[in-house]
Amino acid sequence: MRVGVLTGGGDCPGLNAVIRAAVRAGITRYGHEFLGLRHGWRGLLECETTPLDLDVVRGLIGKGGTILGSSRTNPYGHEGGARNAADNMAALGLDALIAIGGEDTLGVANRLHHDFGLRTVGVPKTIDNDLSGTDYTFGFWTAVQIAVEAIDRLTTTAESHDRVIVVEVMGRHAGWIALESGLAGGADAILIPELAADPDRVVAYLREREARDQHFAIVVVSEGVTLGDGTVTGATDEFGHTSLAAAGVGERLAGYIANATGKEARAVVLGHVQRGGTPTAFDRALATRYGIHAARMVDNGAFGRMAALRGAEIIDVPIEEAVGTLKTVPPELFADAEVFFG
Ligand code: F6P
Repeated sequence: MRVGVLTGGGDCPGLNAVIRAAVRAGITRYGHEFLGLRHGWRGLLECETTPLDLDVVRGLIGKGGTILGSSRTNPYGHEGGARNAADNMAALGLDALIAIGGEDTLGVANRLHHDFGLRTVGVPKTIDNDLSGTDYTFGFWTAVQIAVEAIDRLTTTAESHDRVIVVEVMGRHAGWIALESGLAGGADAILIPELAADPDRVVAYLREREARDQHFAIVVVSEGVTLGDGTVTGATDEFGHTSLAAAGVGERLAGYIANATGKEARAVVLGHVQRGGTPTAFDRALATRYGIHAARMVDNGAFGRMAALRGAEIIDVPIEEAVGTLKTVPPELFADAEVFFG
């Protein structure tokens, strides 16, 4: 079989490890042949390809980013784009396609499978960890690790200056990074998009701390949090998502805290630092297991399905299950984190 591979959406640590594992397993175990598609779905729309063989994937396990490039191109957002994508699969002689991506990329893989019978297999990627059907997406725990390292450093400077530091982390619709990094970093308050933000509650926590002679604080906030004013600015991509980088919830929350408490407050936006660089050992291993399983799925004909982690096992589920509903932070999990607020 000749198998295409693409990486779509925001990049994340572990993409190259998936590519390496899928190609290694596919060639050595099943005798498949591979072709890389450049920049996500754009590569299929424009037949922009790159060779993918054992030599190309050698040494990729710890390399950040994606050797295939990525984009947020949506074939369904272009007149005739989906048909074009299906036709190009045939033109490129591809029998199957491994799509490594999040909700948007996998949503397209699912539609192309159902609308045109394309033989697609999905691998769940996103630092946001908001895909259903799997316990974890690869890249998530690396982003959390990066955020925790930042929080540790920000804590010592906050303490030295009796300041409040608001750490804005990624997470458009789901607060997984904020929750886990806040818990692991010992944050004094965490705000996630799933729950209505109450800046006065944060101020109350800070006052409790002052009363206990704790004059500094770390507040972790997801970029997708709105402070009651609903303000979101920035460009919209082909999947209709607004870039939140310019919304500045961290800055606005820091301003609010400074006004309400009279304390010095600073905001730090971690941004793309959370997506760059080498994956953690966990993500290298998870990405590798996903890649091996994706090659197995192609060989087994498990199309329209996505590799998934359930407990300690790698299984596969219909892509539909993963992209149907966003996996958000359950309120009871957040309630446990509240033990440490204030
Ligand atoms: O891939 C997910 C993500 O990192 C989100 O957390 C974030 O909102 C978005 O991508 C940023 O996108 P871009 O890299 O296009 O600014």
